[in-house]
Amino acid sequence: MASLKDRIEGLRKAFEDGLLKAGDARSLEELRTAFLSRKKGHVTLLFEDLKSAAAEEKREAGRLVNEFKNFVVVRLDGLEAGLRTDVRPARPVDLTLPGRKRYVGTPHPLTLFQEEIEAIFLGMGFSIEEGPEIETDYYNFEALNFPPHHPARDSWDTLYIKDDLLLRTHTSPVQIRVMERSKPPIRIVCPGRVFRRETPDPTHLPMFMQIEGLVVDEGITFAHLKGTLEYFIRALFGEKIKVRFRPSFFPFTEPSAEVDIECIVCSGKDPACRVCGGTGWKEILGSGMVDPQVLKNVNIDPEKYSGWAFGLGIDRTAMFAFGIPEMRYFYENDLRFLRQFGTK
Ligand code: DAH
Repeated sequence: MASLKDRIEGLRKAFEDGLLKAGDARSLEELRTAFLSRKKGHVTLLFEDLKSAAAEEKREAGRLVNEFKNFVVVRLDGLEAGLRTDVRPARPVDLTLPGRKRYVGTPHPLTLFQEEIEAIFLGMGFSIEEGPEIETDYYNFEALNFPPHHPARDSWDTLYIKDDLLLRTHTSPVQIRVMERSKPPIRIVCPGRVFRRETPDPTHLPMFMQIEGLVVDEGITFAHLKGTLEYFIRALFGEKIKVRFRPSFFPFTEPSAEVDIECIVCSGKDPACRVCGGTGWKEILGSGMVDPQVLKNVNIDPEKYSGWAFGLGIDRTAMFAFGIPEMRYFYENDLRFLRQFGTK
């Protein structure tokens, strides 16, 4: 029995060496013949020898030989199956197919436009400030010279959270917060989201973006307002764009002006133009000289200091600049729309 065990161990080693060297289907086949061939295979010969084994050893000897045979068969079958899959021809690669395009995220068009506006003001020495989107009545209205119950409040359809807490209807409250905490000279722009109770349509949404500007110093006049805004508009829309200042009213400025620019869609030539309604002009911002009462509200002496301010709708102006007919496109996150902006 001991000699049978040794023989099997020797054969097992020889078989494993053979497996290691076998690199293709043919050498595996040779190994199979050497071990399993019906005539002279090593395993077959082992079975032959069993016949002459002593009766009391037959059972155990048979178990050992069978076990070895199974080992050989399983290993050979497994490797042959592996070789068969390896030999299968590789899936052909069509080198003429275009590659799959991977999209890289880009800044949102409103962010790009906001940054363009900010860059123009940063270049003129302004800095950027922000304020909260949830405001008190005081900052959104009262400090801006809207007395309680004043009818002018109705032009800002307000979304209230509680009696005294609301979603800011404009970025003008940031003016008050900045003037409260700093001394002139002040030169700031404040971009941000604002909220109004609006039914969505192509040019109105309950949430949109504004950018506010404020300058306060000694000797500031309407000429500074006009010169700075004209420079800004030309930097944004090009040197040739026509600009006009139109008298208007805001509780927090006196005098006040709205600024229109020439309709870049029809240049005033299409009486049915969807963008300017045939007037040839498009309003883009409100502005004015800061009302002396507003300066008093933040403890800035209106005898010594004066200022001017403006507020511009980023969405509306971006629609105009990019020729976008629907404000909702900005907020629907449709990649077919968003991919048209920024670097691709
Ligand atoms: N806050 C105004 C609005 O929401 C826009 C505005 C007008 C802002 C005149 C100003 C300003 O700072 O001086 O319509």
